Amino acid sequence: MKRKLKQNLITFYNSKSPVSEQIKAVRTSLNFATIDQDAQVILITSPTPSSGKSVVSSNLAVSYAQQDKKVLIIDGDLRKATQHYQFKADPYRGLSSLLIGKLSIADAIQETFVPNLSVLTSGPMPPNPAELLSTNKLDTLMDEFKKSFDIIIIDTPPVINLTDAVVISRVADGIILVVRANHTQKNEVSRSVEILKTTNKKLFGTILNDAKYEVSDYYYY
Ligand SMILES: Nc1ncnc2c1ncn2[C@@H]1O[C@H](COP(=O)(O)OP(=O)(O)OP(=O)(O)O)[C@@H](O)[C@H]1O
Ligand SMILES: [Mg+2]
Repeated sequence: MKRKLKQNLITFYNSKSPVSEQIKAVRTSLNFATIDQDAQVILITSPTPSSGKSVVSSNLAVSYAQQDKKVLIIDGDLRKATQHYQFKADPYRGLSSLLIGKLSIADAIQETFVPNLSVLTSGPMPPNPAELLSTNKLDTLMDEFKKSFDIIIIDTPPVINLTDAVVISRVADGIILVVRANHTQKNEVSRSVEILKTTNKKLFGTILNDAKYEVSDYYYY
């Protein structure tokens, strides 16, 4: 994605902008990359903080919704929740409350102003995010969500130094790694790829965010 994002949910507010076109290109590459496999649940992470995971997650979710898919975006970053803000949703009725059994699915899933797109916000920050995310409850919830949504996108914390993304990956079909130009170090990328290999999940691709030059998105798997 190219500089500069004036508005985080650009795919919705300006679907013809260059960034929106790039998000669409990512979606198309993803469709090709996953032609022979399940790609209903996509986990988005990055090596270190502030790479653009949350912005990419929300815009990719919008992009799928614009393709008439029924989409759920889950704020799986229980430590630095942001999706409630992007979608003007209630931050407290969310994933952590569902995981501790304090909420029903119907009360937790919130429709957004984007047609076809629902959000599950993070809920209140628990004392033990990784532990909470490792309970079977998450698996049960995901089985339910998969019945109601075509595509589920999960925004997660960075993968270096925090286990949350690895823990959540068990319920994902594959992973997208977001790296940021002039921010993410090469060794951090390779370290992340090593960590993600241990999940035995497909690395669907890598997105280079915030590059100065036009030819900035690359994709591999
Ligand atoms: N391509 C871009 N151009 C300009 N600003 C960007 C771009 N991508 C992200 N940002 C800004 O950088 C900040 C971090 O982005 P974002 O919250 O998506 O990162 P993150 O990886 O989710 O961070 P965290 O690790 O804190 O969850 C935000 O203020 C966002 O608006
Ligand atoms: Mg984030």
